[in-house]
Amino acid sequence: MIVLPVLFALSIPFVSAQSNDTAVQIEAIEAHFTQAALVPELLASFDPSSILTINFDGVGDVSPGQALTQDQVAPTPTIKITAANSSVDLTGNFTLAMVDADIVGADESNITRHWLENSVTVSDGQVSNSSATAITSYAGPAPASGSGPHRYVVILYQQPASFSPPSDLSQPNLGVSKFDLNGYVKDSQLGAVVAANYFTVEVGTSTTSISATSAVESSTLASISTTATSGSAASSSTGSSSNAASVTTADSLLSMLSLAAIALLM
Ligand SMILES: *[C@@H]1O[C@H](CO)[C@@H](O)[C@H](O)[C@H]1NC(C)=O
Ligand SMILES: *[C@@H]1O[C@H](CO)[C@@H](O)[C@H](O)[C@H]1NC(C)=O
Ligand SMILES: *[C@@H]1O[C@H](CO)[C@@H](O)[C@H](O)[C@H]1NC(C)=O
Ligand SMILES: *[C@@H]1O[C@H](CO)[C@@H](O)[C@H](O)[C@H]1NC(C)=O
Ligand SMILES: *[C@@H]1O[C@H](CO)[C@@H](O)[C@H](O)[C@H]1NC(C)=O
Repeated sequence: MIVLPVLFALSIPFVSAQSNDTAVQIEAIEAHFTQAALVPELLASFDPSSILTINFDGVGDVSPGQALTQDQVAPTPTIKITAANSSVDLTGNFTLAMVDADIVGADESNITRHWLENSVTVSDGQVSNSSATAITSYAGPAPASGSGPHRYVVILYQQPASFSPPSDLSQPNLGVSKFDLNGYVKDSQLGAVVAANYFTVEVGTSTTSISATSAVESSTLASISTTATSGSAASSSTGSSSNAASVTTADSLLSMLSLAAIALLM
């Protein structure tokens, strides 16, 4: 009863967050979003042209779905954008948003706005807010204790010249509140999702049983065959309890097995 899920987990290759093969990373993040039900619960579809990397002081680059503590995600992160290839245009204005998409299975009415900046730019591969308007400045996650692992999603949208935000979301310094993300994107005429990523934060122990979202199906990753990295010790340490993605080699399967077994025993 316990062994079967472990073996199933082992049969699923992971994709390294450290890999610089952006095509593979884009497939991986798409798979993560589907697997974490962010597609279709938050986004109807997800076809990014770039990789978005969230970096917190003291944590470093966050792996997709990585489980972090409230303290770790308190400071404003820096956001790195890596284009899939040289034909992706990262000039012009973008809108950066972070929402609390709540736990897997939550409905859209529970989405909360934690960060919303219009007219950010991408400069030297980093999101810059030097000429931005912070409608909602970054507000660190604080999910209710016992409410389960909330999914915090950071999304970069194209912001065309025709961008026209609704009047109730056009002034800076608004606090955290319920947010109809898709309604906002449509009404303000934001463009396509350029890139997105997410992490999870859980406070206390959940009283309900919530499906874990820890593995990405290899079958969804068409171009995985060539890339394999060793030295996944760092990713293994987060891999058992989060969606941390790492290419596993035969060497690391044993440590994955013990981590998974430990997780199941707890
Ligand atoms: C990353 O890119 C560098 C050159 O830019 C290359 O030498 C290296 O092999 C790449 N590593 C991976 C894991 O793809
Ligand atoms: C570059 O990446 C974009 C977005 O993933 C893709 O649509 C396009 O086909 C790619 N172009 C080339 C030349 O690989
Ligand atoms: C919405 O969030 C509240 C707590 O903030 C929770 O009690 C409720 O179950 C959630 N509803 C849905 C549909 O997820
Ligand atoms: C830009 O980001 C910095 C660091 O997070 C923040 O202190 C500053 O208020 C932001 N400025 C704008 C205009 O959003
Ligand atoms: C980008 O945003 C700035 C600040 O809002 C604005 O002045 C500028 O016209 C925008 N550029 C484009 C191309 O939309």
